[in-house]
Formats: sequence, structure tokens, C-alpha cells
Amino acid sequence: MTQSQPNEIFLKDYQVPAYLIETTALRFELGEDNTRVFADLKIIRNPECQQSNPALQLDGHPDLVLQELAIDGRSLTTDEYQREGELLSIAAVPQAFELHCVTVLEPQNNTALEGLYKSDGMFCTQCEAEGFRRITFYPDRPDVMSVFETIVVAEKALYPILLSNGNAVERGEEGDTHWVRWQDPFPKPAYLFALVAGDLKYIEDSYTTMSGRDVKLQIFAESKDLDKLDYGMTSLKKSMRWDEEVYGREYDLDIFMVVAVDFFNMGAMENKGLNIFNTSCVLAHPATTVDAGFQRVEAVVAHEYFHNWSGNRVTCRDWFQLSLKEGFTVFRDSEFSADMNSRTVKRVEDVSLLRTAQFAEDAGPMAHPVRPASFIEISNFYTLTVYEKGCEVVRMIHTLLGADEFRKGSDLYFERHDGQAVTTDDFVQSMEDASGRDLTQFRRWYSQAGTPVIDASGTYDAEARRFSLTLRQSCPATPDMAEKQPFHIPVAIGLLDQQGGEYLLENSATTQVLDFTAAEQVFHFENIDSEPVPSLLRGFSAPVKLSYPYSQEAHIFLMQHDSDGFNRWDASQQLAVEMMQALIVDHQAGKALQLPEQLVNAYRTVLADSSLDKAMVSKILTLPSQAYLSELAEVIDVEAIHKVREFVRNTLAAELEPLWQDVYQANLSEAAYSPDADSIARRSLKNLALAYLLATGKEEYLQLALQQYDAADNMTDQQAALTLVTHSDFSAATDDLLARFYDSWKDESLVVNQWLSVQASKPSEGALARVEALLQHPAYDAKNPNKIRSLVGAFCGQNPVNFHHQDGSGYAFLADQIIQLNKQNPQIASRLLGPLTRWKKYAPARQQQMRAELERIKASGELSKDVFEVLTKSLAV
Ligand code: TRP
Ligand code: ZN
Repeated sequence: MTQSQPNEIFLKDYQVPAYLIETTALRFELGEDNTRVFADLKIIRNPECQQSNPALQLDGHPDLVLQELAIDGRSLTTDEYQREGELLSIAAVPQAFELHCVTVLEPQNNTALEGLYKSDGMFCTQCEAEGFRRITFYPDRPDVMSVFETIVVAEKALYPILLSNGNAVERGEEGDTHWVRWQDPFPKPAYLFALVAGDLKYIEDSYTTMSGRDVKLQIFAESKDLDKLDYGMTSLKKSMRWDEEVYGREYDLDIFMVVAVDFFNMGAMENKGLNIFNTSCVLAHPATTVDAGFQRVEAVVAHEYFHNWSGNRVTCRDWFQLSLKEGFTVFRDSEFSADMNSRTVKRVEDVSLLRTAQFAEDAGPMAHPVRPASFIEISNFYTLTVYEKGCEVVRMIHTLLGADEFRKGSDLYFERHDGQAVTTDDFVQSMEDASGRDLTQFRRWYSQAGTPVIDASGTYDAEARRFSLTLRQSCPATPDMAEKQPFHIPVAIGLLDQQGGEYLLENSATTQVLDFTAAEQVFHFENIDSEPVPSLLRGFSAPVKLSYPYSQEAHIFLMQHDSDGFNRWDASQQLAVEMMQALIVDHQAGKALQLPEQLVNAYRTVLADSSLDKAMVSKILTLPSQAYLSELAEVIDVEAIHKVREFVRNTLAAELEPLWQDVYQANLSEAAYSPDADSIARRSLKNLALAYLLATGKEEYLQLALQQYDAADNMTDQQAALTLVTHSDFSAATDDLLARFYDSWKDESLVVNQWLSVQASKPSEGALARVEALLQHPAYDAKNPNKIRSLVGAFCGQNPVNFHHQDGSGYAFLADQIIQLNKQNPQIASRLLGPLTRWKKYAPARQQQMRAELERIKASGELSKDVFEVLTKSLAV
């Protein structure tokens, strides 16, 4: 907890550190009542710092108990240093000296899950972004890089495994305790420090790097989860190979360790040589993990591994540069997943997330540039903007430069900055220097928030055989900035002829990338024989909202003929969106709803075409989500969107029933479960067909779903059946099925999380009462972020009709949860706030209810910086 008016920190105020830490020697004496941390730091003046005799400033959390502080062997008296808030300063220090510091912690009582804490009886750490200051007094900033040595001491019986960064160089025993000494030869900032101690089991493998070095690979977990580690290991080895092949990056230590922990605020953490993972992002087994879970494990393992270069070897100068490592690393893991699975499907998934969640963030009160200019609490800036939009910004550089020049740029970046803490500007500079491209204007993507809007229109001159495309760009104001300068936007485009063939454009290619840099620009295409249908923003070449006055026929034409797979899908989405938006207006006007024949026919054509890629068929036939339709709406009418989606789904179910039956039958499989792209596509199409069949409301399909539930040899099929039945109108079958599911899986924590989510997101009346009952269920643990996300998070984020209930009960419920979590786990509290901060998008009655709950949280007592920042910013707009 902090004072009521926390400081805002600005990028423009950056100053180099006054002191550098050459070496950091740590000794942890882990105990049940308390843990003592001995830190010995070799400190020198930073030659680059201009100040004369600056004070030594160390970060330390206000709750941190200081037991001893000494310089060059002499203990300091309390008047020789000052503690104020998060800072400890020592006014007079030598040019070079040794600092000795002893702190006392109570990890077992650390519910914030930052710094050193306990997860299910094991000790573990989370130091990014500013958790190290909860362990000892230290310059806790990423531009202070030091060589670490760590001795971990603990009771042998309770903590047989003792881990830290780097290589284990020595170990020993003394009575009931034992210890291990770890050395990490690579200088690193404190946020990459890690320690784990517990009764862990592990699997081991090895990897031979491209230069022929053998690396030992170990993945640790509680013994009950030992059978769920193989997929993570396979993913790790694939990631190591891919980074060598695509980026020329080799692993640099002799050992790489991954640990699975159940209490974790985020997905995973890239600590040097010792990655720590949320169990949800590394454990995988066909019986307990759904297809999306396997893909998430593969992606997150890759993401954290890739950080070894993009994040660890080259790190961030300050936290405003967070996207330097996160945007780039998301780009790397996204390309890896595209190479391992289906590229188009991966693109559709990434863009869907961006368009719903990131665009909403960009339009909300917490909007910020990819490189924020200020913050109160950095934990609030691990956002979709920094990660996903940051990834899109790197992807645009890749599009502008082409793969080869981009690789030259990344090689130069890694070579030039190895061992340094740098800025997003340094990254762009390397790309410029290697390619000769001018990215001056492009840099605005890092400094201007908001989602650019492109208005496109085309004219065809038959006589001149010329097609002209006019593009106009603008960017809405965001709380931090009213006026935006034009962006440098790569617009990938193709032109289709009347038969669905493609015109050859620049360099005889069918796709051309336009450099769209002015507020308005006209592009001409010559030798076009007849009026073309333009395919715009192919592959979603920029994170913008583009509109073009397409007819329904043009959407359908593109759906069938576009050579760009992403745009084929996008055409189907836009077609459905436009029709559903019209239906929403009809519903609001009290008119009877009628589904246009064109949509039914378009879907019928896709469904009947067995030559199409199954994954894409299933993506195309999935209706635009409630979240996407909400993001697009001027004012979100929760009920109308929900009603229209149900109506369209039910109508498509009834009209195409025989086709859904065929698709279901054709995609049943006898083969053993495998999480490869083709099998995943087959299951997703089959389960989509089952969803439509259940939507007919016919009893026989309930039986089909129950049959699938019982026959399933994998969690994907079982969970699909459970969710569909639970969310269907067959309420009689639901309770029994939920009870059976719980009974089968009550010992599998991650499966129980799915069981909680399925109930929390059930759209029928009375959801809140069910959620409140589940809060009391023995399976729930109010201190475990995964449980909170599965129940409270799912209710507030995935059950719009109930969360936004007219009586305001959903809002009050969330506010109560946040007030409780604010003290216990500020990071989670602040993240959960999200749905309430978007009050401006709703009609006045709801706005008032939502604001009132925000005010109630504000008045509830002392707020963490995390909650304070999100609250004040969302009340200010
Ligand atoms: N750097 C982590 C990543 O790979 C993010 C992260 C993990 C994190 N745990 C955290 C960020 C806790 C803030 C707080 O993306
Ligand atoms: Zn990351």
C-alpha cells in the first residue's frame, strides 16, 4: 500500500544510474517463519553520470525489514542513511566500495506474488518488473546489470531442489539443511533474478546447439504433474532449433530450466536460465488439456525461450521501453507458431485478439502508446498495446523491409547491443542502418496512441485502363494526446479481376505494399482491363480500422476468390458484421428479425465445399464475437448484440441442419489424440457443427453431445460437450453433467479451472448467484490468481449479459472483489478492473451504475498504486 497520491514517472526524466553494481552475491536462508537474505554488492560510480558526489539510492519496498547495512565492513548507524517510501539513500559513499545488506522476509505471507513468495509449499520468485526491491535493497532498474552469484540454503527434507540462475557450481550439507551455489556469468538486471526451492520432480533432456554444444534441459513440477511435461519439452527443443534457423540465435548457458508453479500473476517469466511458468502455460496432457491449451504451451514456452536474446542478452534501458522486448518477442513467438502450425489460422487468431481487446484498450481511458510516456505503476503497462500492438509494429517493419533486410537488421541489433540495456529507438535504428530504409515517420507508431482509421475508396477509368485508390487516414484523440500526425502505414493490396484471378502489380507480383504516409494519398494502378475488386490490407498488414464501400456481393466474391487466406476470412467476417449490425438496429426498433438469404447461402457454399481447409472453414463459420461487435458499436447494447447473435446462430443451425450433421459425422475420428494442426482443425470443425446442432434445440442432439462427452478420450472433445450442454437450453441435463465432470476431475486443478469458467460464463439468468455459490466451493481459492481469473474474471469478461445485468449487481460484485483484492494482490485487482473502466461505451443508466462502483472502490480505503492509477484514469475521462 502506498500514500494516497502516488508519483507519476516520466520517460523524459530518464537519467543514467549514478552507481553501477559489478557483482551481486546473495545468500538466502529459507525458513518457515522467516527468510534471511544476505546481499554483498561491489559498487562503483558510473563514469557516465555527470553529477558530483551523488547519493547512493537503493530501491526497497516499505515493508522490507532491514537488519544490517554496512559499507566496506563498517555497519551504518540509522542516521547514516534515510528511508523514505520506496527509497533508501546514503549520502556519502566512496567511488568504489562494498555494500553488505541483510533483510528479513516472510515469503509465506506474501500474497501479492511479487518478490519471494510461496506457491503450494515451494519457494519461488517473481521479480519483473519491480519485485526485486521486495527481496533486498538494490538499484532495481533494468539499466543496472550485474553478475550474480546465489547461495540457496534450506531444509533438506522439505526443499530437496534448490535452484537459481546460471550453473550450479558447488553444493553441500549441514545437519538438516543443504545448500547450492549458483553462478550466472551473464550480467543481468535484477528483474531477471530467480530462485526456486521445493519438493519438485523433473524430466530431463538435452539439446545440441548449432555450434555443437550440449545443453541440459530440465522441466520441474510437483510430482502429481510429472506426466504433463513432455509437450513443454518438445516445444522447448523446437523453439531452440527455430531461433537458430530463423534468427541465428544460439543458447548460451550449459543448462536451461523451467519450473511450473500454480500461484502466478501472469503467464510465465523469462528469468535467465530459470524460466518460471504458470502451470496453465506449461502443463499439457491430452486427458486434461484442450487443443488451445496445447497451442498456448507451445507459444509461451517459445516466447520465454526467445527472451533469452530479445530481453535478456539485450534488455530494456527503462520500463518505458518494455515493448522493445515484449513486442519483438511476441512477433518472434507468433512467427514460430505460424511455422509450426497453420500460418493463416494463427494470423486470424492474432488479429481477432487485437481487434477486440487491443482496439478496445486503445479507445478506452488507459490508452497509451506502444512506448508509454508516463506511468504511475509499471505493472499496469503489461498490456495488449505493449505486447500485441508492439508485435504488429515489429511486423510492419518486417513487411516494409522484407524478410532478408529484416534479418540483417535483427543481426545488427543483437551484435551492436549484446550486453546492453537499450531503447525501442535503438531497435529501429538497427533496422534502418542495416536496410537503408528511412523509418523516421514510422517511429510515430511508438509514440502515438489510438487506432488509426483508414477510409478507402476506388475509381475505375475504363478508357485509361486505370484503377485509382484513394486512402485517407486519421487517428482519434486519446486521453494523452488530442492531435495525431499521419502514420507510415504499409497497406498490402491485390486486385482481383471479374473471374477471381489476380492482376499483376509492381514487380509482377499479385500483392503490392503501398507506403501510405500522408493524411490523404491516391495510388494508381495501370493496365487494369476491367473494374477490379480490391483486396485491401492483406494479411492485416497494419493495426488499423480500414473501411471500403464493398457491396455484399463483393464480400462474397472475396470470400471465394481472394488468394490471401486472411482476407478471405476477413471478407466473411465483414459480411456477417454488416448484417448483424443491421439486425441490431432492427431489434432496437422492435422489428421482427430476418436473416438475409445471402448469408445463409454464403455459409452453405463454404460448408459444402470439402476442398477447403478445415481450420479456415471453422473460422469462417464462427460468428463475430460479442466482444468484437461491442468494440465496433458506438454505444454497446449488450442485450441486443446477444439476442442477434443467438438469432443468427439458431437460424443458421436450422437452415443448414443436414450439412452440420454431415460435417459432424465426417470429422469424427478413431485415431489417438494428437495436437497437430490438422487434428486440431478437424476437432474444431466437428465441435462447431455440434454447437450449431445443439442450437436447433432438438433433443437428439443433446443425446449426441452427451454421447461425445462419455466417449471422449481427450479433454478437447469432453470440454466442448460440457460447455455446449451447460450453455444450451437443456437445463435439466446441465447439473448432472457438471457434477459428473467435477467428480472425475476434482484432483486436477487446471481442469477444475475450466469447470469454474464454464459455469461463470453460462449466459442464462441467475449466473451471479451461481458464481457467488462457487466462491464458497472447496475448489475455489481466493488467493490463487488462476482461480480468480477462472471464476471472477470469466464472469465479468465472458458473461456480458449477466455482468451488465440491469440491476447493477454484476458491477457491485466486481467492486467488492476488487476492494478485497486491492490489499491482497494489487496486480490482479487492477487487471480485474478492466470491464468497469469501459463505462463510457454504455448507455447513460449503465454509465452511472458503473461510475458509482468505481467511486465506491475509490472511497474504500487505502489503494495500491496499481488500482489507484486505473481508477483515477478511468474516472477522469
Ligand atoms: N516478462 C513476462 C513475459 O514473458 C511477463 C511477466 C511475467 C510479468 N510475470 C510478470 C510482468 C509479473 C509483470 C509482473 O511476458
Ligand atoms: Zn514476454
